[in-house]
Amino acid sequence: MAAVKVAILGFGTVGQGIYHIINEKREQFKETLGVDIEIAKILVRDVTKPRSNASQDLITDNFEEILAIPDLQVVFEAIVGEEPAFKYSARAIENGCNVITANKVMFSKHGLVLQEKAKQYGVQVGYEATTAGGVPVIKTMQNILRVNDVHHIQGILNGTSNYILTQMRSEGLAFDDVLKDAQNLGYAEADPYNDISGQDAFRKLMILSALAFGKQPRWEDVDVIGITEITSEQVEEASAKGLRYRHVADVQLGEDGELVAKVGPELVGPEHPLYSIEGVNNAVALDTNYIGTLTLIGPGAGMFPTASVMVEDYADMLAKQTAPVTI
Ligand SMILES: NC(=O)c1ccc[n+]([C@@H]2O[C@H](COP(=O)([O-])OP(=O)(O)OC[C@H]3O[C@@H](n4cnc5c(N)ncnc54)[C@H](OP(=O)(O)O)[C@@H]3O)[C@@H](O)[C@H]2O)c1
Repeated sequence: MAAVKVAILGFGTVGQGIYHIINEKREQFKETLGVDIEIAKILVRDVTKPRSNASQDLITDNFEEILAIPDLQVVFEAIVGEEPAFKYSARAIENGCNVITANKVMFSKHGLVLQEKAKQYGVQVGYEATTAGGVPVIKTMQNILRVNDVHHIQGILNGTSNYILTQMRSEGLAFDDVLKDAQNLGYAEADPYNDISGQDAFRKLMILSALAFGKQPRWEDVDVIGITEITSEQVEEASAKGLRYRHVADVQLGEDGELVAKVGPELVGPEHPLYSIEGVNNAVALDTNYIGTLTLIGPGAGMFPTASVMVEDYADMLAKQTAPVTI
């Protein structure tokens, strides 16, 4: 039985989810994946915080200790923001280590560079968790892109915005009231700016764009509008006409080969693939040349949806490493 060492960067919602799943499934993974996974270290910012669910020996605030782990195979990156996440991910790759990230802020900007670097160093990068949480959109796209062209992507990529728009319509509530309610239920952060301004959806759209088209539009050319200006009167008026507000992140390849992208509220009717997506769910509709339109729907965030797709990324990496070579 091969023993493999992994490290987790960040021990918040997502990091703790990874820790829990790997430990809970450790025996099963011995059978299904043929490896005994050992969590060798966990990187945090503040080592003095009490951490009831992990041994203090595992916790460090020094990234050099992570790199010094002998035969480290995978780094699960679940910290917040562009830096030091990018620097740590790049250094892990340079050390011959696979990286699996949930960090959309970092990956939307540096994903293509990290993937190029991973090729150079013969390792892999997993990023399913960066976009639409538990919805397997990256894996599905990687698969269908082998044969199909994707020419248009439309997504509901932020569950908080979708929850607010859904509640405004179904309960007849005002934006501020639903936002407070979402914060109480844990669907919205204490600082909801990234969610309701459209910035979070924008970052995820850029990750999908890089995957589908191998490039992103110039960020400054993308109109990003949030949901804060939508009034309950507008929602009611739309409802009376059989329409719904959806916060849509949209990128398509024009005939001239240029990408056109926008993020903002749209009024959609029942024929639209995103019309029926309610509550905190995310969805991604892909227009492809052979399949037609494919829509994926599911939970866009949360400890276990997010952490489990990261562990799935790892299982995929193992499967690729052991896949028989055909000539
Ligand atoms: N939460 C979700 O449902 C979700 C879904 C998809 C993607 N994501 C992404 O996953 C990442 C983690 O999210 P989260 O919700 O788990 O965040 P979180 O609960 O705020 O936890 C962040 C963790 O990162 C650690 N950290 C922050 N800065 C660090 C630094 N400079 N060096 C070392 N450790 C650092 C923190 O350490 P301390 O504990 O010491 O403060 C904390 O343990 C983010 O990039 C987020 O966008 C989250």
